[in-house]
Amino acid sequence: MRAVQIVDLTGPESALAQVDLPEPEPSHMLTPGSAVVIDVYAAGVSFPEVLQTRGEYQFKPPLPFVPGSEVAGVVRSAPDGSGLSEGDRVAAGCLLGAFAEVAVAPDFLTFPLSDKLDFAQGSGLVLNYHTAYFSLKQRGRLREGETVLVHGAAGGVGTATIQVAKGLGARTIAVVSNDEKEQVARAAGADEVVRSDDPWKDEAKELSGGGVDVVIDPVGGDRFTDSLRSLGEGGRVVVVGFTGGSIPEVRVNRLLLNNTEVIGAGWGAYVMSKPDVNREIGAEVNRLVDAGFVRPIVGARFPLERASEALELIDGRGATGKVVLDIR
Ligand SMILES: NC(=O)c1ccc[n+]([C@@H]2O[C@H](COP(=O)([O-])OP(=O)(O)OC[C@H]3O[C@@H](n4cnc5c(N)ncnc54)[C@H](OP(=O)(O)O)[C@@H]3O)[C@@H](O)[C@H]2O)c1
Repeated sequence: MRAVQIVDLTGPESALAQVDLPEPEPSHMLTPGSAVVIDVYAAGVSFPEVLQTRGEYQFKPPLPFVPGSEVAGVVRSAPDGSGLSEGDRVAAGCLLGAFAEVAVAPDFLTFPLSDKLDFAQGSGLVLNYHTAYFSLKQRGRLREGETVLVHGAAGGVGTATIQVAKGLGARTIAVVSNDEKEQVARAAGADEVVRSDDPWKDEAKELSGGGVDVVIDPVGGDRFTDSLRSLGEGGRVVVVGFTGGSIPEVRVNRLLLNNTEVIGAGWGAYVMSKPDVNREIGAEVNRLVDAGFVRPIVGARFPLERASEALELIDGRGATGKVVLDIR
């Protein structure tokens, strides 16, 4: 099968190679001896793959390896009792191996793909929407009627967070860096959009009538203190990622003074050993698809052989919505 591997750690421009590999056996590292085998139609591309080309992501497989943590495609074979059958359209989290014509995924990370979504949209469903649901609901304890501020709101996690928050009955304020990204955040359903280079903290406080309830932060960096300041009483900042490059530090007196919280949300680390949690989140995300709230926004699309361009786009802060590789 055709595939792309990371062969060295020289960055997105040069670390990838086109290869021809044997198709994978029905076995996954999380479920040895068992896996759903999927004919891949689309593979999702995300920030972690960029970091992996430099050896900077926490998950460091030995070189060379096929990157790519999620796919949409058609089931070729599935374990007995998985509820999946040959020919089913699915969206799946595979951890690695998505940048290939055939991928394997654990059955508990493979979900029926609604007819309302195409394969490109399906390839952006697991990582971003499961993270969004986990961050908002399970970690952020979001309640109906609350206000959520979303950083990096035109990105993959950001657009997913806006849609899931709307589906959970919240009001959303998106933070973005330019006009194009503002349009994407609005297309995702943001109620309000503010600019990262404007006094967004004051605008958010005004728009929310005194302070937001939840901040979802995939960006980090020097805006973190203003995120804390934008909270109302009882507000929560949920730490999701660090695309801004630096890991912020918290002066905890701020938490005490305003009765606020900082909460970590590491979706992968939490759910990988919890099949039932994955199934629950998958069912909730599919319910939000059926209800019309979840419609992954697909940005740039590339054929498999141009995977490095997809990574460079993300690396250069140029991506909007989900970046996708069309595999077949
Ligand atoms: N915790 C978890 O379980 C979990 C799960 C999935 C992903 N993540 C993490 O979440 C983060 C976001 O992933 P994503 O797929 O949404 O990425 P993305 O689509 O590339 O979006 C990231 C956004 O970050 C903003 N940003 C600010 N400074 C940036 C910089 N220097 N370089 C690049 N982007 C910058 C950009 O928005 P503006 O230009 O508008 O500022 C961009 O749209 C990543 O760190 C990823 O590893 C965490």
